Amino acid sequence: MCGNNMSAPLPAIVPAARKATAAVIFLHGLGDTGHGWSEALAGIKSPHVKYICPHAPFMPVTLNMNMAMPSWFDIIGLSPDSQEDEVGIKQAAENVKALIDQEVKNGIPSNRIILGGFSQGGALSLYTALTTHQKLAGVVALSCWLPLRTSFVQGAVGVNKEIPVLQCHGDCDPLVPLMFGSLTVEKLKSMINPANITFRTYSGMMHSSCIEEMMDIKQFIDKHLPPVD
Ligand SMILES: *[C@@H]1O[C@H](CO)[C@@H](O)[C@H](O)[C@H]1NC(C)=O
Repeated sequence: MCGNNMSAPLPAIVPAARKATAAVIFLHGLGDTGHGWSEALAGIKSPHVKYICPHAPFMPVTLNMNMAMPSWFDIIGLSPDSQEDEVGIKQAAENVKALIDQEVKNGIPSNRIILGGFSQGGALSLYTALTTHQKLAGVVALSCWLPLRTSFVQGAVGVNKEIPVLQCHGDCDPLVPLMFGSLTVEKLKSMINPANITFRTYSGMMHSSCIEEMMDIKQFIDKHLPPVD
């Protein structure tokens, strides 16, 4: 299963209503597919933006007693000091970078692409944005954490050190506790310009999404991917 997800089905796509001049690539959470998120994004779409929701490959997940399920990389535990699948995370980030390259080839510059994700997918979107040489328009990181955080030293982030970040978390999240989101935002602030980071929490929200959050995401996308014509 390592190395490439070319055998995975094609991403769920919400096409732009007119010529696409920007894109959002959004990565779902563990055990999910891109379909639910493509429907959610269709609900907040803008006419010049293409929304791409890839599906994770099936792989055995340690956290789930080695059962195979859609997963971007292996998850051993969900606490800040859990062991991490370094090889899998790095390979998954390479796959996302390849997906970005594909959109660039299709005519959308990387600085017109927002990367985002929920939970494991949000973690991967953060890791990818902080390690890629592709300058991105922003990151939307929902109910997630920064993987391999000790591998980041201050000032190590290259082209995306000013990247606008919208990080969101439910204050009743029983799976990835809000505390983990808060630690993540503090870590991010030490690496990229804090002026470009927005951290929103939602009262009563669990490990899920809500309308208020979707509206914040729409506002962030509209701000950082305005129409160009
Ligand atoms: C990040 O914040 C700085 C300082 O407020 C601002 O000058 C810059 O335009 C922001 N960068 C982006 C990409 O929005």
